Amino acid sequence: MKRLLIADDDAGMRAALEARFQRRGWLVDVAVNGTEALAKFREGLHSLVITDVRMPGCDGFELMRAVQTSSGRTAVILLTAYGCVPDAVEAMRNGACDYLVKPVCFEKLELAVEQVLRRAEKFGKDTETLIGHSPAWEQAIDRARQAAATDADILIEAESGTGKELIARLIHRLSRRKQEPFIALNCTAFPESLLESELFGHARGAFTGAVGARPGKFETANGGTLLLDEVGEMPLALQPKLLRALQEREFDRLGSNQTVHVDIRVIATTNRPLEAAVGEGRFRADLYYRLNVIPISLPPLRDRAGDIAELAEYFAGFYSAPGINGTHGTVGTQARLSGELLARLEEQAWPGNVRELANFVRRAVALSRGGEIGVEALEHGKRQPEKILSSRAPRSPEWKPGLSLGEMERQLFAMTLESTGGNRARAAELLGVSLRTVRNKVREFGLPPRDNYRNGLPRADLRNNSLQNNTSKEHLCP
Ligand SMILES: Nc1ncnc2c1ncn2[C@@H]1O[C@H](COP(=O)(O)OP(=O)(O)OP(=O)(O)O)[C@@H](O)[C@H]1O
Ligand SMILES: [Mg+2]
Repeated sequence: MKRLLIADDDAGMRAALEARFQRRGWLVDVAVNGTEALAKFREGLHSLVITDVRMPGCDGFELMRAVQTSSGRTAVILLTAYGCVPDAVEAMRNGACDYLVKPVCFEKLELAVEQVLRRAEKFGKDTETLIGHSPAWEQAIDRARQAAATDADILIEAESGTGKELIARLIHRLSRRKQEPFIALNCTAFPESLLESELFGHARGAFTGAVGARPGKFETANGGTLLLDEVGEMPLALQPKLLRALQEREFDRLGSNQTVHVDIRVIATTNRPLEAAVGEGRFRADLYYRLNVIPISLPPLRDRAGDIAELAEYFAGFYSAPGINGTHGTVGTQARLSGELLARLEEQAWPGNVRELANFVRRAVALSRGGEIGVEALEHGKRQPEKILSSRAPRSPEWKPGLSLGEMERQLFAMTLESTGGNRARAAELLGVSLRTVRNKVREFGLPPRDNYRNGLPRADLRNNSLQNNTSKEHLCP
């Protein structure tokens, strides 16, 4: 059911809006100020927030910013007094929101709701929910926000599983490029010979098998944001070309001497400090300085232990939802983690960070029979750090002279599917072949079925469903 949150300090306004929207089939929560609204939002993750601007404590603008940081799928409508219009217009630059001047005509409000929901759906397609309120995490989010307002390139350095990609998407969502593409490329997912073409594209006939010309990620990201994941693994031979592309925003497709110009923001991520790679001669110093215009580092989970319980409960809710990632998802029963278990989780070391915690909770939920999960989950959910740490790292291919083309092809399909978590459409896009070809190759090479790839992490498009908890609150029929 659609969930709406109304925040207004005027009781009459709250009641009127609540009644009207309930009649339209919305499940409505109300709050008397921004602070209460934010607390309710964090529990309910509503798809729509309608808020007054002037409220005591946290005002409507602040509420809007916090909501947008947490969820790209939530639409926000500000109800503003006549004098606040310029502020509202300014605030609206940040994503899927709109404003109406009070007194509000309900028909106009309904129209605005329809439009912002449509926009939120579009913006939020590939965004995810951000959980955590520890000072270290909020500081990182603040920095990401500041960076988003600029157009500079960004380097995110953080341990594995800390949310680098999540933050990169947040930056894109909050930037002026938000309506343009967000394209991600994992630099470890391709052998050197293919990586260059993935980045910069190729001309027809550039190499054996290049039957048609194809743009690279730099070109498909034009206008938007390009995420270069694991940039530290970029082969040295390719680094000068990347440097030129970053400096001049121009490059040539492989096998072509026609220069392509692009207007993009580049966000690079690395698990290992790039400075060390520079010291070891594996990464060019000039490229490092060029990428490191705005550095952002994300705290490992051990430095934000205060967020562990909130994250764990969020994942428990997610994995209890029916049919999520193969868990039984007892319908209507949300698995709960006992206080003792939460306390123990806060004391654990999490070398695989949030991803490892999510995997642990997933296992615990899958093995439970619904209801409360206690500390015994730590026993049957014994962590396997080495597996978790490598869960997303694609295998490197074993290509040597004499290897048959068929085997090389098999490895390439297997590796690409691994890097996309089994997503065939994405693999088809990466390989520049049709979806049908990917399906046929999966069958031909006997590659694992789709579900085997899932490492159990929430997919952005499933997350919202899981958060619709089965509240018993009734709504009025139209
Ligand atoms: N604050 C958070 N709130 C909710 N989910 C999170 C948060 N941080 C991370 N996650 C989840 O944890 C997983 C790992 O996050 P992400 O892929 O962004 O990390 P990463 O740093 O890019 O990892 P890697 O180094 O392995 O590429 C994802 O499923 C992500 O949705
Ligand atoms: Mg990543």
